[in-house]
Amino acid sequence: MSGPPIAPDDAPSLVLGIETSCDETSAAVVERRGDAFTLRSLVILSQDVHRLFGGVVPEIASRAHLTRVVPVTRRALDDAGVAAGELDAVAVTHAPGLVGALLVGMSYGKALAFAAGRPVIGVHHMEGHLFATVLEHPDAVPPFTGLLVSGGHTLLLDVDAWGSYRLLGATRDDAAGEAFDKVAKLMGLPYPGGRVIEQLAREGDPTRHRFARPMVRANQTLGDDDYFDVSFSGLKTGLLHAVRRAEAAGTLDEERPHLARGFQDALIDTLVEKTYRAARAFGRTRVVLGGGVACNRALVEAVRARVAPRGATVYAPTPRLATDNAAMIAAAGAWRFAHGERSGWDLNAYAAREIPGLTRTTTRDTPDSHGNTLPPN
Ligand SMILES: Nc1ncnc2c1ncn2[C@@H]1O[C@H](COP(=O)(O)OP(=O)(O)OP(=O)(O)O)[C@@H](O)[C@H]1O
Ligand SMILES: [Mg+2]
Repeated sequence: MSGPPIAPDDAPSLVLGIETSCDETSAAVVERRGDAFTLRSLVILSQDVHRLFGGVVPEIASRAHLTRVVPVTRRALDDAGVAAGELDAVAVTHAPGLVGALLVGMSYGKALAFAAGRPVIGVHHMEGHLFATVLEHPDAVPPFTGLLVSGGHTLLLDVDAWGSYRLLGATRDDAAGEAFDKVAKLMGLPYPGGRVIEQLAREGDPTRHRFARPMVRANQTLGDDDYFDVSFSGLKTGLLHAVRRAEAAGTLDEERPHLARGFQDALIDTLVEKTYRAARAFGRTRVVLGGGVACNRALVEAVRARVAPRGATVYAPTPRLATDNAAMIAAAGAWRFAHGERSGWDLNAYAAREIPGLTRTTTRDTPDSHGNTLPPN
C-alpha cells in the first residue's frame, strides 16, 4: 500500500464497492462521514445456476461474473446518481475467495478506477462482513465482540477498533455455513442448506435428537486452547448416524424437522457459548454478528438471550447485508481510504489470506481476570 497522506478522518467520501469472491456479482456505493456510513445503492445478482450442482462451480462462477460485473456496477452507480468521476475511491474484494472469480471484479475495479483517475483499494472479504452491520445499525461500532459465521469461515474476534482484530477462536474443521450446507445434503435437502434447515427446525421437537455440544465443557477455563474454538465435524457425524437410522426405519421424512432442530440447536448453543465467553472476557457490551449464517433468526435471538441480561446489545445485519454483498466491501474500503490506504495497480487476488490487522492471542492474554463488565453465570 502506498499513496497520498492520510485524509482527515471526518472528510466525507464516496466509495464504489465491487464484490465477486464467490457466486454473487455485486456493486454498491457507500458514503462515509466520520463514523457514519450511508448506503447509496446496492445491486446483488446471485448465480442460481450452482444449485443444480449442489455447490459453487468455480469456472461457472468466473464466467458468470464476466458477463455481469459491468452492468451490475453501472446499475449501482446509476441508482446512486453518481458518475465514476465523482467517486473518491473504488474498493474491490481481492481475498479470500475463488481466485478466478475474484480476478474478474478486481480487474474491472482497477480498470474503472484507473480510467476515472481514482485510487483502488483491495478489501478483505471477511473484514467486509464485519462492516456490514454498521450500514444498518450506526451503533455497531468498535469496541465489540465479532462473530463471523459464513460459508467458508467461522471467526470469533475481539475488535477494539476498526482495523484491529484480535482472533480469539475459529473453527477447527467445517465453517458454520458449510456445516449447515453439508447436513442439508445428508438429509436430502437443497443447496444452500442454511435457510431450509432453519425453516424445518421451527417445526422440530427440540427433545427428540440431542446432539453433543462440541468443545463446550462445564470445566473449561480461560487457559484451555479450545476455550473459544469451535468444531462441527463430530456434530455432522452424529447427524449422519441419526439420518441413517431414520432411513433404515423408513422414517426420514417425518424425522427431518426434528433432526434439523437437533442439529441447529447444538450448533447454535456452541456459537452462543463461545461468543458469550469472548464478550465476557473482554468486557464488551456490544456483539456484532456477520456472514450468511447471521441470517439465522434462532442464532441471533439465542445470542441476544444469552448476553442481553448481562448488559450487552447484539447487532446483526438483515439477510441482504449478511450474505455476500458489495456494500460491506465499500464500507470497509471507505474506512481504509480515510485512513490513508491505497493499493497499487499491481493489486492481486488471493484464495486465502489473513484479515489485515489480525492478531492472535492466547486465552491467557484476555483481561477477564481484571475488570470484565459481564459477570460470569
Ligand atoms: N438462515 C440461515 N441459517 C443458517 N445458515 C444460513 C442461513 N442463510 C444462509 N446461511 C448460510 O450462509 C452461507 C452463505 O453465507 P456467505 O454468503 O456469507 O458465505 P460465503 O461468502 O460463501 O463464505 P465466506 O464469506 O466465508 O467466503 C451458506 O453456507 C448458507 O447455508
Ligand atoms: Mg461471504
